[in-house]
Parts: sequence; C-alpha cells; structure tokens
Amino acid sequence: MRIALLGGTGNIGEGLALRWAPKHDVVIGSRSAEKADEAATSCEERLFEEGTSCELAGEENVQAIADCDVVVLALQYQYAMPTAVAIKDKLNSNAIVVSPVVPMIKDGFLRYEPSKKYGSAALEIQNILSDNEVVSAFHTMPAARLIDLKDKLGLDVLVCGSEKPKQIVMGLVKDIEGLTAFDAGPLEASFMVESITPLLINVSARNRLKNSSIRIIGQSIK
Ligand SMILES: NC(=O)c1ccc[n+]([C@@H]2O[C@H](COP(=O)([O-])OP(=O)(O)OC[C@H]3O[C@@H](n4cnc5c(N)ncnc54)[C@H](OP(=O)(O)O)[C@@H]3O)[C@@H](O)[C@H]2O)c1
Repeated sequence: MRIALLGGTGNIGEGLALRWAPKHDVVIGSRSAEKADEAATSCEERLFEEGTSCELAGEENVQAIADCDVVVLALQYQYAMPTAVAIKDKLNSNAIVVSPVVPMIKDGFLRYEPSKKYGSAALEIQNILSDNEVVSAFHTMPAARLIDLKDKLGLDVLVCGSEKPKQIVMGLVKDIEGLTAFDAGPLEASFMVESITPLLINVSARNRLKNSSIRIIGQSIK
C-alpha cells in the first residue's frame, strides 16, 4: 500500500514510518518539502543500520497524498483540522484516512477535550472529509516505543470505523510486528478510545511511568 503520513516528521509519524516502510510505500508529509525529505532519508538510514534496505519519499503534505491508499493525520488536534480542510479536494476518493488524533487540554491534569459538536476528533475529521472513510487507531501507542526499533512492543491497538476500511487498517496494525489490532466499534465509539490517552498520561505522571499503553486481557470465546 502507499501510505502518506501527514506531519510525518513528528513523533507518531516517525514511528509509523519506521515500522511500515519495510512492507509499504511510505511518503512522509510536512509543511516543508525539505524537512520531509530529510525525515525520509533519516528513516532510511535508521532502517539500514538495522539491516533493512528500503526507500521512503518526502513531500509537502498536500503533495504527499497523491495516489495514496491510506493517509494518516499524524498531527496535533489543532493542526489536524486545517490540514484535513487543505487536503479535502485533493484526496483520492478511495483513500482511507487514519486518525490517531487526541484532543487534550491541560487543566491541572490532562483532560480529553473534543469539540462539543462532534464529540471526538475522528468524527470531526469525518465531517470535514465526508467523501472518504475515516478510521481511528493508534491513540494509545506511545511513539517512542515505535521509534525504538529494538522494542518488541507486545501492545494492543483499538480501531474504530466502518467495517471495510477498519479491516484494512487492522491489517496495517498487524503488519507491525508486536501489535495486535482490536475492533473497538464504529467511528462513533472513537471518543472512548481517544479518551484513554490522557488517562494513560495522567497515570504515568503520577506513578513514575513513561510510555504507558494498553493490553486487552480477555478469555477468547470458542
Ligand atoms: N506522540 C505520541 O506518542 C502519540 C501517541 C498516540 C497518538 N498521538 C497523536 O498523534 C498526533 C500527532 O502527535 P505527535 O506527537 O506525533 O505530534 P508532533 O510530533 O508534536 O507534531 C507532528 C507534526 O506536526 C507538524 N506541525 C507542527 N506545527 C504545525 C502547524 N502549525 N500546522 C501544521 N502542522 C504542524 C510538524 O510537522 P512539520 O513541521 O514537518 O510540518 C510536526 O512534525 C496527535 O494528535 C497526538 O495526540 C501521539
């Protein structure tokens, strides 16, 4: 698949680029083509050091989406919305948009704060990108753990969206060794998943932890 990571020069973007590039065509997007290109080269060098040879591309965000099957909005909430508006008319109609976006504010502790109108970042993005399918995923995935290629992960990723695009994104999650994808329901359920992130950060801050994440502990039904 061809995957564009908008804001891919940042934390979660770098982590996903490093983990997906061996299996997919990854394009790192940025506001600056030069910065995107540098990030792509840096990922190639990191992967080469680990014994994997692959090429990544770097483009300005709006150019990065060309011919992409999947577009990840790897951006802070306040930048994800204007970026979604900027790409709206240029997105391939079949492209799936992935949102790891978590709207949070600091108010003594971190608080989940989506827009009152939409109730979650994912639904707000879906409202902007109404011609494309939005799937939400990776909210509880600490970027630092993806970036550390020696980290074997062993973590779970909750995915929300409509059935067909959700299955595709769950496949992309499984393409990252050490991650298990769990179906967390339709996009309307994304608010619950998004709100786990500030909870994890608050728990970490109070309990001398870092890079906290989740695992689903259940007994499978035969
Ligand atoms: N970090 C994590 O561990 C983590 C985990 C799960 C989910 N998330 C979510 O993933 C999203 C991205 O988080 P992140 O930590 O990866 O973000 P980040 O590193 O802070 O920023 C990502 C990119 O955003 C771009 N950016 C900065 N200012 C901008 C502006 N004014 N307009 C447009 N783009 C701008 C920058 O790219 P350029 O300068 O190259 O344009 C930057 O590299 C957030 O919504 C976060 O809640 C993060």
